[in-house]
Amino acid sequence: MHPSRTRVVRSLLRRELAAPSPRRWMGAVTWAVGAARRLPVVSPPLHLHLEITTRCNLACTMCEHSVWSDKGRDLPLSEFVRRLDAAGPQLRSVDLTGIGEPLLHHEFEAMLTECARRGLRVRFNTNATLLTDRWAERIAELGVDEVHVSFDGARKETFERLRVGGRFEKVQEGVRRLVAARGTAGRRTPWISIQMVLLDDTLPEVVELVELAAALGADAASFQGLLGDVLGSGAQNPFITRPGEVAAHLAAAERRAQALGIELARPHPGKGPSVCPLPWTQAFVQVDGTVLPCCLYTQADQRAHIASHFGLGKLGEEPLATLWNEAPYRELRGALASGQRPGPCAGCPLPRGIY
Ligand SMILES: C[S@@+](CC[C@H](N)C(=O)[O-])C[C@H]1O[C@@H](n2cnc3c(N)ncnc32)[C@H](O)[C@@H]1O
Ligand code: SF4
Repeated sequence: MHPSRTRVVRSLLRRELAAPSPRRWMGAVTWAVGAARRLPVVSPPLHLHLEITTRCNLACTMCEHSVWSDKGRDLPLSEFVRRLDAAGPQLRSVDLTGIGEPLLHHEFEAMLTECARRGLRVRFNTNATLLTDRWAERIAELGVDEVHVSFDGARKETFERLRVGGRFEKVQEGVRRLVAARGTAGRRTPWISIQMVLLDDTLPEVVELVELAAALGADAASFQGLLGDVLGSGAQNPFITRPGEVAAHLAAAERRAQALGIELARPHPGKGPSVCPLPWTQAFVQVDGTVLPCCLYTQADQRAHIASHFGLGKLGEEPLATLWNEAPYRELRGALASGQRPGPCAGCPLPRGIY
């Protein structure tokens, strides 16, 4: 691509990334992928997932955390800053969600401050069990762009059965606090979504989740497909045995969202991308610095094995701009572009449109 076209792509993307709507944001990223794929040398990504902790205070049944033998660990603030530097000056946005609870990290506030200082767009998921008034105020004041609060269940009984250790009322209170804090701060952000993983147990509650989002004053209800061989057994996944029912439930949720004026983020079964765009557009950096194409690669207590077989380098030991064009990344892109699905990509729900 001619350098001036690259500049145009970049400046358009920058404008879209500043927009508060994730739908516009994803659209911009998807659009840019087409252009990026044709480049012989791929520009390092504008977006990174930086996992800051693998500690958690819950044990949700569908989450790999519930089967992990690894001891949880935190990324120190100094190393976080080093990774932001190593990511490069093109970086525009970070997702601070990993397989752990970000609000447990005692330096999380300092990390948000550092991101704000750099003008980065920030989002994260939280179980909201620790979302006090003070946290809500700081999140709003520090200009966090998006917060996704996990609600795997729109009814108390389902929620507490799946999100083991969580209390339904307390998490609802966390959402109300965030809504109030951004009002007090006079901001439109954070954009607040309540999120549900689509499982046999949660499918009947998708419409109720939309209603809950409206009742709590959130902006959106988000649904996502189940990732990974969660129990690490290789057995058929016990959590979703009726994939054929997903589309009808989501259509009903969409109608309810329209009626209530709630945004909906949802998978589109059967309409996934023919080639996964992620190795061209973003990366997932585990707490130990291992660079992976996405969070699917972290599943089911296999971190050491996956890092040694499928890791794409260590962020901080090398700048991302270098790793991004070395053999492991080039080979992964080549395999995906030619229709192969290497390693953990084989189990990815994205091409089937169910993530
Ligand atoms: C891994 S959690 C980490 C952040 C935080 N602890 C939380 O629960 O929101 C991020 C999101 O992934 C979802 N999740 C958990 N297990 C999953 C799985 N196997 N597949 C897809 N999403 C999953 C959670 O419900 C949550 O919304
Ligand atoms: S989904 Fe989040 S809260 Fe639940 S066990 Fe996993 S990391 Fe913890």
